[in-house]
Amino acid sequence: MKLLMVCLGNICRSPLAEGIMKEKGQKYALNIEVDSAGTAAYHAGESPDPRSQEVALKHNIDLSSQVARKFTVEDFDRFDEIFAMDQQNFSDIASLARNKQDLEKIHLILNMTKPGENKSVPDPYYGGDDGFENVYKMLDVACDTIAQKIKKGEKI
Ligand code: 4NP
Repeated sequence: MKLLMVCLGNICRSPLAEGIMKEKGQKYALNIEVDSAGTAAYHAGESPDPRSQEVALKHNIDLSSQVARKFTVEDFDRFDEIFAMDQQNFSDIASLARNKQDLEKIHLILNMTKPGENKSVPDPYYGGDDGFENVYKMLDVACDTIAQKIKKGEKI
């Protein structure tokens, strides 16, 4: 199964989600591939934000080989499930969907743990370091839930 994590810049939240989800894949012995992208190209070609890399490393997750890229419509063909970090990301991706099948691939990542609440992962870019730890914790819970669903063969 191929999973794509999406935020705005692809340097703070979705790289963390990618790294955490890959770790869950190992933890639960899942046959998954994970990537991430941003709805904007501002940071394309850059490494993850040092604050994301730092918080990931604290939890033994290495993001240093990741490179930011922009989400494209072909991602609907390449991936089975697409996880948006916030409501704006969700609607930006949804506006590119070509059909119902594309649309059904998109989920708000926090709805995995709190279905129907439509909560967003806060953008930590302009905040302090504690924002990144907070994002890490939210994504750790969400990715664990995704991994458990895949393990049990449940619909995402
Ligand atoms: P991200 O955070 O979407 O979690 O990667 C941001 C990174 C950069 C900007 C905004 C959010 N920016 O405006 O440059």
